[in-house]
Amino acid sequence: MDASQADLKKVASYIKECQRLVILTGAGVSKESGIPTFRDKMTGLWEGYDPAKMATPEGFLKDPSLVWRWYDWRRKLVGEVQPNAGHVAMASLEARSSALESGPDHFTLVTQNVDRLHQRAGSTRVLELHGNIVTFRCFERGHQAHESIPFDLEFPPLCRCGALLRPNVVWFGEALPAAVLSAASQVARQCDLMLVVGTSALVQPAASLPYMALEGGAKVIEINPNETALTEDATTFLKGASGVVMPQLVRFLDGVN
Ligand code: APR
Repeated sequence: MDASQADLKKVASYIKECQRLVILTGAGVSKESGIPTFRDKMTGLWEGYDPAKMATPEGFLKDPSLVWRWYDWRRKLVGEVQPNAGHVAMASLEARSSALESGPDHFTLVTQNVDRLHQRAGSTRVLELHGNIVTFRCFERGHQAHESIPFDLEFPPLCRCGALLRPNVVWFGEALPAAVLSAASQVARQCDLMLVVGTSALVQPAASLPYMALEGGAKVIEINPNETALTEDATTFLKGASGVVMPQLVRFLDGVN
C-alpha cells in the first residue's frame, strides 16, 4: 500500500524541523522522465547488451565504437526528456532550505545519476557520485573536452592530444571522484535527515551513505515503490514513486494538504 497521509505528514515535519538535509538519489527518480533504470531489462536497440560489460574501461577499449554509440544513445535520450515532478520537488526543497537562516550548508543532493536532470530542474547543490554522460574527457590523460560533441558519431572523437574521448562517467571498476565521495560522506555523517529516493541501495560506496547518516544519529527516510536492501534499516519507508511522493511532501510543507 502506498505511503499513508499520516506518514507523509510525519516526514514533512521532519523536513521542516531538520537542520541539515541530504537527499540521495538513484535511477528511479529519472524513471518517470522516461529514462530506464539500471535494473530495468535493457530494451530495444540495446536488448541483450550488458551495461556492466559496456560501462567499463576494458569494454570501451575492446569496442570503442559500440560503447561510444551506447552512451550517445543515452545522451540523446537524456536530451529529449524533461525533469519530472520529483526532480522539481527536490529542487524546491533546496530553494526552501537555502532561504532558511541555516543557509546553503543546510542542503545537499547526492546523486548516482549521470543524466543531469536534477540540475535541469534547478538543483545546484549536487554531488555527482558517478559523473555524467553529457561531458567528455581524454581516455589517456584526462584532458577535459570543452567543445560540444556532435551526436551520431560512429567512433569516439579524438582529444587534442590524439587519444580517444570518453564520457565523464564513472565506469564499473573505476574509483569515484575522491573529492566528491569525501564531500558526500561528510554531509551524510553530519546530516540529521536523509531522504533516499529511487535507488536499489545495492551499489557501493553510495549504498553506505544512508548507514553513515544512521550512525550519525540522523533519520533516514526511503522513498521507493519497492522495498530494497535498505528498507528494513530505514527510519521510515514511504512506498511510492518519486514523482508522486516528493511533490506530496512539498505540499505538506506548504501546509496545503
Ligand atoms: N520512483 C522512485 N523509485 C523508483 C521508481 C520511481 N518512479 N521506479 C523505480 N524505482 C526504484 C526501483 O524500485 C529501484 O529500487 O529505483 C531503483 C532503481 O534501482 P537501480 O536500477 O539499481 O538504480 P540505482 O540504484 O541508481 O543503481 C545504482 O548502479 O548500475 C550502477 O552506476 C549505476 O548509478 C547506478 C548504480
